[in-house]
Amino acid sequence: MGGIGVALIGCGGIGKVHAEGLRRSPYAELKVACDLVEARARSFVEKFGFERFSSNYEEVLKADDVELVIIAVPPKYHAKMTIEALEAGKHVLCEKPMATNLKDAKEMLAKARKAGLKLCIDYQNRFLPSHERLKQIVDSGDLGDLIQVRARVAYPIMEVLPPDAPMRTWLFNPAIAGGGVLMDIGTHWTDLVRWLIRREYESVYALLGHFDVRIPEDVEDTAVLLCRMEGDLQAVVDVSWAVKKSLWLIEVYGSEGTAMANLPGGLLVYHKEQDDWRSIKVPEGEEPHAKLIRLFLKSIVEDSEPPVTGEDGYKSLEAVMAAYQSAKLKREISLPLDL
Ligand SMILES: NC(=O)c1ccc[n+]([C@@H]2O[C@H](COP(=O)([O-])OP(=O)(O)OC[C@H]3O[C@@H](n4cnc5c(N)ncnc54)[C@H](O)[C@@H]3O)[C@@H](O)[C@H]2O)c1
Repeated sequence: MGGIGVALIGCGGIGKVHAEGLRRSPYAELKVACDLVEARARSFVEKFGFERFSSNYEEVLKADDVELVIIAVPPKYHAKMTIEALEAGKHVLCEKPMATNLKDAKEMLAKARKAGLKLCIDYQNRFLPSHERLKQIVDSGDLGDLIQVRARVAYPIMEVLPPDAPMRTWLFNPAIAGGGVLMDIGTHWTDLVRWLIRREYESVYALLGHFDVRIPEDVEDTAVLLCRMEGDLQAVVDVSWAVKKSLWLIEVYGSEGTAMANLPGGLLVYHKEQDDWRSIKVPEGEEPHAKLIRLFLKSIVEDSEPPVTGEDGYKSLEAVMAAYQSAKLKREISLPLDL
């Protein structure tokens, strides 16, 4: 069996991570690296072994040797490029958030369905070894009846992002990014919550804030979401760019015990029969983007469901959109949202 011809559109920060993942995948043939900045695309030929480069994505979509397109450009362009790629007969791995509004996201789903092509969204945090292990614990039933999940990310963006990072040109512009920290990181976390406990969002109440004077005021840098999940479960999603120390923490509370994953590798579990917390060291494992790419390529070869579906992408975006509505109207918002 030959490999799958892949084109990567967007050779910036996350494009590099995708290229690394592709290079390691047994199913991928690296055909075209594409970026508006031609020098970036050209450098991917040398660094990662793509066959050729381009600065024109429309041309790339016409190539016969490309079966899968990875879209790693800023959010505003995701929907248009995905739809055009699907129309050109390509499978698509699209970066998160899949779109900056739900109407576009719905159109992406419809287009993929109609074309019989696969659409996957890059929520790779599901494949972090500590998250996979946390999910095993939740699925095992050891925690008893689930009560609540709290998912929090503190990410001091102004300290972490290098001054020359291309991302700085668009990340704080809501017309391109679609929002602030909630759109950028919050969608990861709204995805993780529903994946972890297999429950959908029923309603969201949100507070948004702006605390770091270095971040443009057009975007929120801090958000807290109180979510009612199916089966009367509760979730708290809490993300911030303004805080001073990175923290990635997911806590799951049940009637019999508690489990929490604290990135990068730590996992703490408590069961009511135990005296104290049990610490589990989770081995590093496969890089999560590489794993998602490997599983997506496998799903194309085997014609099975992608590891993260377009519908998954829609649901996490919908929770975030409900949060923006809630903050604006200062009330709880029920899902699904009317478009
Ligand atoms: N899954 C994750 O954890 C994760 C992490 C970081 C970024 N992202 C997402 O990936 C996307 C890109 O982020 P990034 O950090 O790589 O941004 P970036 O600014 O570093 O890179 C984006 C690249 O896209 C190129 N580009 C823009 N318009 C283009 C066009 N029309 N044709 C070809 N190239 C074009 C730019 O020149 C740039 O090189 C965003 O949607 C972001 O949210 C996801």
